[in-house]
Amino acid sequence: MKPAITVLGTGRMGAALVHALLKAGHRTTVWNRTLEKTVPLAAAGAAVATSVREAVQASEVIIVNVTDYPATAVLLRGDVAQALRGKLVVELTSGTPQGARETGGWAEDHGVTYLDGAILATPDFIGTEHGTLLVSGPQQAFERSKDMLLALGGNVQHVGDDLGLANALDSALLALMWGSLFGALQSIAVCRAENIDLGELARQWTATAPVVEGLVADLIKRTKAGRLAADNETLSSISPHYSAFRHLVELMEVREIDRTVVDGYDAIFRRGIAAGHLHDDFAALSQFMGKAG
Ligand SMILES: NC(=O)c1ccc[n+]([C@@H]2O[C@H](COP(=O)([O-])OP(=O)(O)OC[C@H]3O[C@@H](n4cnc5c(N)ncnc54)[C@H](OP(=O)(O)O)[C@@H]3O)[C@@H](O)[C@H]2O)c1
Repeated sequence: MKPAITVLGTGRMGAALVHALLKAGHRTTVWNRTLEKTVPLAAAGAAVATSVREAVQASEVIIVNVTDYPATAVLLRGDVAQALRGKLVVELTSGTPQGARETGGWAEDHGVTYLDGAILATPDFIGTEHGTLLVSGPQQAFERSKDMLLALGGNVQHVGDDLGLANALDSALLALMWGSLFGALQSIAVCRAENIDLGELARQWTATAPVVEGLVADLIKRTKAGRLAADNETLSSISPHYSAFRHLVELMEVREIDRTVVDGYDAIFRRGIAAGHLHDDFAALSQFMGKAG
């Protein structure tokens, strides 16, 4: 029989987790601070607990998905911590590597097994083969809960025993995502200023996205290998990037478009160029994004 699961926190993501667990056949108990949000989950077959302690007592595996770690810490203190002794807590709330390690220390002190996960997906991907969850913590606990985790997303990976790893990788990947999203905001501003229909932008982005994906993969690969000087496999050195970038800045100046985002790019280009890397591979800029100062 599949293990019973408790989910604490049924916001947008928590509700998606509950639906996926129910679909996979887990007896699922839910608790949420705002009780009304559990009504559709009860209709879908979840048991609703009216206190965190009651919710925790209902299952051996407790998934937490609230806004942040301080909220988790408040939920799991006092008599709830006692009720958790000997159980497995899977924290799927987003947080920092430090937050995960601290919660791991708290769990150890209270006799609780602890896994820390990062969800790299929006709620619509939960329960599908494309849902990605990175999990860190004791391998044995991961293996024991793997079937349950696979119900949440087809791409579930144990990234290491160090509890901070899932959140660290999550932050790194979010940096990539926001690069794209803020880039999209910049593109939209340029299109609006130049009277370009946003449907046209969408079409051209679909056509050019594979080029960008290739550049990102190449940048990571070359940086890992330390191949920062230009060679005959270089796709583009810093020089043509920077001259195209200057065209963008010139257009933005003429159209009086906000430069907050591109000023950051400019500073990094300038650091690299001042250090003599104008004709090196774009990957050479990776040297200028480390520790501040
Ligand atoms: N949505 C996404 O696409 C996505 C993707 C990846 C990761 N995540 C992560 O998943 C977590 C939840 O996100 P969400 O999208 O579900 O957010 P949400 O819809 O805003 O839900 C937040 C949940 O946290 C609860 N909560 C907040 N503060 C609390 C407190 N002090 N005590 C008890 N419960 C508290 C809320 O309870 P109430 O209902 O009472 O307010 C609600 O259940 C976050 O850590 C988020 O970063 C979300």
